[in-house]
Amino acid sequence: MPKIVILTGAGISAESGLGTFRDEGGLWARHRIEDVATPEGFASNPQLVVDFYNARRAQAAEASPNAAHAALARLEAEMPGDVLIVTQNVDALHEKAGSQNVLHMHGALTSALCAACEHRWNAPLAMTVGEACPSCERPTARPDIVWFGEIPYHMEEIEARLSEADIFAAIGTSGNVYPAAGFVQAAAAYGALTVELNLEPSLVVSQFDETYSGLASETVPKWVGGLLNA
Ligand code: APR
Repeated sequence: MPKIVILTGAGISAESGLGTFRDEGGLWARHRIEDVATPEGFASNPQLVVDFYNARRAQAAEASPNAAHAALARLEAEMPGDVLIVTQNVDALHEKAGSQNVLHMHGALTSALCAACEHRWNAPLAMTVGEACPSCERPTARPDIVWFGEIPYHMEEIEARLSEADIFAAIGTSGNVYPAAGFVQAAAAYGALTVELNLEPSLVVSQFDETYSGLASETVPKWVGGLLNA
């Protein structure tokens, strides 16, 4: 069975009602990245940042996975051990759809991190500024989100899995942010077949062997069906 690594971005959750970042009216049209998605922003106004992520956490908690998430969960169920999802998203829609092999390279809304001792804990509810870390008890809780200028999570494992991939697919991502936008080049260098499924061509579309344009809820089930009936 082919080993498949799938990178997902905000576009796969768009039809579940969660906004993307760079589309018309996206998150970065309504909030300044430096205010809500950098360590400096958190240091200068922690309440603004905590409120921003509490609102996104509440919205994500209400959201349901769509047919694209469900198709990827089906693919993993039919090819156990051969499918890895690397998501840039901080929502839990892949897990809600039943995917188990998911790496959150930009963190997760349902997780909190201690800025002092790096303890991580499950935080499904709203966070408060100065919340105490359950481990070191210092008032240093922060959203467990990888902000601009910080190192994404799981990079060693991701690079190892890209080197073994037979197929690399990118779904719902604009190709604006590295290192994720560079995964296609790495996968191709290792000989993987590379596939982009996106509403419109991404910034790195020319680096893919195959591209399918359209809504993820339509293109992803069709693509998965083709893989399973191959
Ligand atoms: N189906 C498929 N693709 C879609 C859909 C949809 N229904 N709706 C939007 N898209 C595509 C858009 O065409 C766009 O290319 O999803 C992509 C979303 O791009 P971005 O908003 O830039 O989101 P993403 O690529 O995930 O951003 C990467 O940037 O701000 C940081 O940390 C943040 O993880 C995020 C990273």
